[in-house]
Amino acid sequence: MRKKIVAGNWKMNTTVPEGVALAKEVVGEAASLSSEVKLIVGTPFTHLASVADVLAGSQVALSAQNCADEAKGAYTGEVSAKMLASLPVEYVILGHSERREYYGETNEKLVKKINLALAENIAPIYCVGEKLEEREAGKHFEVVAAQIKEVLFGLTEEQMKNIVIAYEPVWAIGTGKTATSEQAQEIHAYIRSVLAEKFGALAEEISILYGGSCKPSNAKELFAQKDIDGGLIGGASLVAADFIAIAKSF
Ligand code: 13P
Repeated sequence: MRKKIVAGNWKMNTTVPEGVALAKEVVGEAASLSSEVKLIVGTPFTHLASVADVLAGSQVALSAQNCADEAKGAYTGEVSAKMLASLPVEYVILGHSERREYYGETNEKLVKKINLALAENIAPIYCVGEKLEEREAGKHFEVVAAQIKEVLFGLTEEQMKNIVIAYEPVWAIGTGKTATSEQAQEIHAYIRSVLAEKFGALAEEISILYGGSCKPSNAKELFAQKDIDGGLIGGASLVAADFIAIAKSF
């Protein structure tokens, strides 16, 4: 049985007090949730320690949104995986399209980040997804396959067991435009088949989340698809009631 996961990506939103208040609301509402669903909140670095205190003893896990591609040293402004691991951070979102697009994150850098996170027992939520022009040119399978192969195929099976994948079509992020459940299922199944080329039966165990304008009104249909194991939620994760409603959509 694959893990069902609903993860919030707060992106660069909320002050620390606002984030703490949001985390408290999420924890409060999560009490009514089935323990089958793993809930995760992905906060900015500045919020991690305070939000960790709020989440302590709850069923909600903590995620960062990035980590450095070097272990330590003279890298002003960077935050290492080891620093994250000194807090109760269990996950880290890596390879988000916003980081690939605006901060020059290449597949090569992502290999380093993933290895550093795994070495600290932090599970990467590795994001893949095509841009609008790539989908329109019919290149979405090719683009996603390269993101999977170039970054994950160097991992061992033992490492791969700790990876969560998020498929986020760039054209659906923050646009209100969601992939249809058929489009999402088609590419999720494809991602699983690519994983199977390298990792065999383990591909069936890997959770693949959908992200991109996922909200309470469309989560049910998306999560009903065979290869969609949950969601990576941006905007709707900033409203506790919506985030929990999404988590109740399985
Ligand atoms: P939205 O849910 O706001 O479209 O964002 C999706 C996303 O990028 C999550 O990582």
